Amino acid sequence: MLSSNITRDADGTLRFAGQSVPALAEEYATPLYLMDEDRIRANCRMYRQALRESFGEDALPLYASKACAFKQMYRIMAEEGMGVDTVSSGEIHTALAAGFPAERIWFHGDGKTDADIRYAVGQGVGCFIVDNETELLALAQEVRRQGVRQRILLRVTPGIDPHTFEAVNTGTVDVKFGVAIQTGAALEFARLALAQEGLELEGIHCHVGSMVFDENVFEDSAEIMLGFMAEMKEKLGFEARVLNLGGGYGVRYRETDKQVDIPARIAALAAFIKERCAALGLALPAVLMEPGRSIVADAGMTVYTVSTVKHIPNCKNYVIVDGGMTDNPRWCLYRAAYTVLHAERGGETERFTLAGRCCESGDIVQPDVPLPADIKRGETVAVCTTGAYNYAMSSNYNRLGRPPVVMLRGGESYVAVRRERAEDLCALDV
Ligand code: LLP
Repeated sequence: MLSSNITRDADGTLRFAGQSVPALAEEYATPLYLMDEDRIRANCRMYRQALRESFGEDALPLYASKACAFKQMYRIMAEEGMGVDTVSSGEIHTALAAGFPAERIWFHGDGKTDADIRYAVGQGVGCFIVDNETELLALAQEVRRQGVRQRILLRVTPGIDPHTFEAVNTGTVDVKFGVAIQTGAALEFARLALAQEGLELEGIHCHVGSMVFDENVFEDSAEIMLGFMAEMKEKLGFEARVLNLGGGYGVRYRETDKQVDIPARIAALAAFIKERCAALGLALPAVLMEPGRSIVADAGMTVYTVSTVKHIPNCKNYVIVDGGMTDNPRWCLYRAAYTVLHAERGGETERFTLAGRCCESGDIVQPDVPLPADIKRGETVAVCTTGAYNYAMSSNYNRLGRPPVVMLRGGESYVAVRRERAEDLCALDV
């Protein structure tokens, strides 16, 4: 199977985190997001341990909460000793509402508004990751107005192409994020930051992309980041204490995808960084990483009930389900691959396009998937590896309510986000 938390019984029943998927569909109704809490926690521990072993006590993984954010997720992150990366007042509010400690929140984003800055500074958010000079000056002004000090990192772009899909490539000079090192702009950005009263510059951040499988992407960006740290030390007399290398490790959506050995990659990265620091005469900085997808993707599964099976002779077969692009827009946006399984039996002998219920032809969850030839209305199908960027990117298009998020933990299940009801859909309408 794709992941060790997905199994099938001899009678064909699909299990996720040891629990019967058809039984969960029956209990909670569909469409349904399932999340394997034990897997989320194991992934957090894997990162914490790998970073601590490789870089020492100051290293910390920050969960990139854009991948999947709701209160219970932030509670789990707090219990697992993670930091969190947030990108909006909404994410910060959710984290704080869950009791997540403000000082362990890092605040990202290229378009922070005055209201975001005022709110985050006022709430005592631990660290701003400042994207650009305009934001830097706005933040400095707000910090002086509130009479507080604010720790910051600067987002810089190392000019690396991570060879992933274009919409999630963030490391090259022409992207909208951060300030480029290679044009000299980042050095001026750091000079300006150091001159701001009330702002405490701790170091630098980069994130080169998502779904990274190539072996050397993090080493290549670390090389440039460390070179920039040496340049700041020489020209500005500033020695960065923190190096945040962002997120991005890829995960397996299909059996044919590679498995990234994250602890091994982190160990190799640490060896490289230590060697470069020694060569450049830099003290080893506290290393932060921001994994999102690799914390939650394989902890997720989406369960649907089949509404219609449509055979278009000599052309195509459709399985149409009770969800679609509203709960998973990733094929529509990125042509993202997924593994689809019948939840009650194996025997995948015919190819189908798994389509959603929205009124547009483009509402496809996954084309060309093998399913049993006699699949029919009322049966249950599961889409695997949907823990990242599914619930987080869901919408109410066609006034469809979002599915609930049901957590699976130690053989038990509970609702972490309840189903959106018809009255919720009208809640904001006057
Ligand atoms: N840090 C920063 C600054 C980021 O922008 C991101 C993701 C991450 C960390 C986490 O990256 P991860 O470990 O999850 O790859 N909606 C797209 C993904 C967009 C990723 C945006 N930034 C998708 O569904 O594939």
